[in-house]
Amino acid sequence: MKYLVVGGAGYIGSHMVKHLLQAGHDVVVADIAPTGPGIEWVELDIANAQALDALFAECRFDAVFHFASHIQVGESVADPDKYYHNNVAATLTLLEAMIRARIKYLIFSSSAAVYGDPHYTPIDEAHPKAPINPYGRSKWMVEQILQDFDRAYGLKSVSLRYFNAAGADPDGQLGECHEPETHLIPLILQAASGRRQAITVFGHDYDTPDGTCIRDYVHVADLASAHELAVQYLLAGGDTTAFNLGNGQGFSVQAVIETARAATGQRIEVIEAPRRDGDPARLVADASRARELLGWAPRFAGLETIVGHAWGWEQRYPWR
Ligand code: UFG
Repeated sequence: MKYLVVGGAGYIGSHMVKHLLQAGHDVVVADIAPTGPGIEWVELDIANAQALDALFAECRFDAVFHFASHIQVGESVADPDKYYHNNVAATLTLLEAMIRARIKYLIFSSSAAVYGDPHYTPIDEAHPKAPINPYGRSKWMVEQILQDFDRAYGLKSVSLRYFNAAGADPDGQLGECHEPETHLIPLILQAASGRRQAITVFGHDYDTPDGTCIRDYVHVADLASAHELAVQYLLAGGDTTAFNLGNGQGFSVQAVIETARAATGQRIEVIEAPRRDGDPARLVADASRARELLGWAPRFAGLETIVGHAWGWEQRYPWR
């Protein structure tokens, strides 16, 4: 198959590209940032309709994977226009170009943020969608647009609602590198390697056994395999839908720090801080639908493995 990976230079996108290439597919990356060597990269902003038309005139893609998005919840509250502009308006430009080029299949990176504050846990796909910040709303808006575009234009899509994407390429070639970094596991490991002094823990007074927030960490390589299964589902005639992607097991911030201490052999200083705005106490996925309908079976579900792979990547940092 010939696939376009939009945002294929980013954290999850780059793991997807590696996965598709290893499966023998033909892959083109469209991104504003460059990819690593040996990957076909087109410098392209999806807000640019002409550039998309030119690319689609040149290459006949069987499907598009769309990872290009802003991802910081706090920033989305401070600057919602950035999020609606890039995550919604630019996505619409991409969808319109796909329809003009008669590309029928899209895999979209959605988020557990579409659910907002959980009414129950674990969260299944039927849980009410009530996002509590512009980031989550931008993802839910696109999901709704995708439902309408299927009905009107026959564009078939799968929205994959990631819980906490984490870990790194088991071969050590790829990993997480956000600027600024806001995610828990890379920040803990930066404290372990000495790149930062300590990890700041936001909130010790949640209604959880140790008082810190609980999240469902899912390995980035397992996310990649779910995307390939999702495109196979569409190519086999599957209908537009959404799936949760998580391991169904929650770990507290404190438990992640303890796992990292064991994996790294480092003390890892902790600074206690107040709660971060908008953090629900507990976010755990019920991903049984992806397991049943897609046949998804995560290979790296253990937190030790996820943290271990991320530590392998953090240790390579000075040579990147
Ligand atoms: N945390 C800390 N200290 C830090 C960073 C995080 O204590 O320095 C805590 C947070 O308060 C939270 C947990 O660690 O309880 C995980 O935080 P992350 O920022 O790593 O991840 P989130 O759960 O906030 O967000 C992730 C994605 C978002 C997505 C959200 C819901 O990063 O893009 O899941 O899907 F919106």
